Amino acid sequence: MKVLRTVKQLTEFRESLKGTVGLVPTMGALHNGHMSLVDQSVKDNDFTIVSTFVNPTQFGAGEDFDSYPRTEKEDVALLETRNVSAVYIPKQSEMYPKGYDSWIEVKGITGKLEGAVRPTHFKGVTTVVGKLFNLTRADNAYFGQKDAQQVAVILKMVRELNFHVKINVMPIVREKSGLALSSRNVYLSDKEKKAALILSKTVKLAEEEFRKGLTDAAQMKKLLEDNINSEPLAKLDYVAINHWDDLAEVRKIKSPTLVSMAVRFGTTRLIDNTILR
Ligand code: PAJ
Repeated sequence: MKVLRTVKQLTEFRESLKGTVGLVPTMGALHNGHMSLVDQSVKDNDFTIVSTFVNPTQFGAGEDFDSYPRTEKEDVALLETRNVSAVYIPKQSEMYPKGYDSWIEVKGITGKLEGAVRPTHFKGVTTVVGKLFNLTRADNAYFGQKDAQQVAVILKMVRELNFHVKINVMPIVREKSGLALSSRNVYLSDKEKKAALILSKTVKLAEEEFRKGLTDAAQMKKLLEDNINSEPLAKLDYVAINHWDDLAEVRKIKSPTLVSMAVRFGTTRLIDNTILR
């Protein structure tokens, strides 16, 4: 596996490849959720490039850019155990050189859910992901349903800006306890980690109620909010029920519908979701 650190190295490496290329964009601190994307890419493509760049432009003021876990050695060692062709670990100045001034911005659907709380987040995500698509000229790119709105935003960007890449969406990988794997779980105390199970329990509740026939979105939302609020350590940011394709709000749950939530435990903000079909 090659370790590439500059745009020049990545470009030259890409030019040497004859065959299909899969891209797995990450911010490092790799866990089994990330690795499920890596394994799928390795299966589907002749070559797989993983990027592990903690992208400063998607963090807002007061967010956790400085404390975000950085585990380069462990990440490289883990990727070495798979058939990954290269890992791209650029410095900030490589992706955003002095005077950098170009942005990709998807409007509309980036104003709600995560975007309502993190107004500059998706502009940073689409810009860095667009740059990675151009640098790798990937045939396939892999994203997790864990960040469902991110998937919707990237699908829209690819469609509307005519990127030549197929977006593949992989299911949420969870701990045995139900907790969705996240690089941010390391911030949780033992108590908070137990309390955070309310997220996956609420996801399960939504799935069960839908199976039993609950389709009124307002009723579903209230039920899920009450469930989260029953956990004393949980500070609810939002529960939202949206069409999965365009994230429009729904009154009646008709498949496929995204049920998503964000909850704070102390200073840690976690998200979870399910798509009801
Ligand atoms: P990061 O949070 O590192 O996540 C990288 C990819 O792994 C994303 O597509 C995310 O949805 C997926 N992922 C994270 N946890 C997962 C889980 N438990 N199960 C399945 N997939 C999971 O998302 C980003 O980085 C950044 O915004 C990025 C796209 C790299 C742009 O900087």
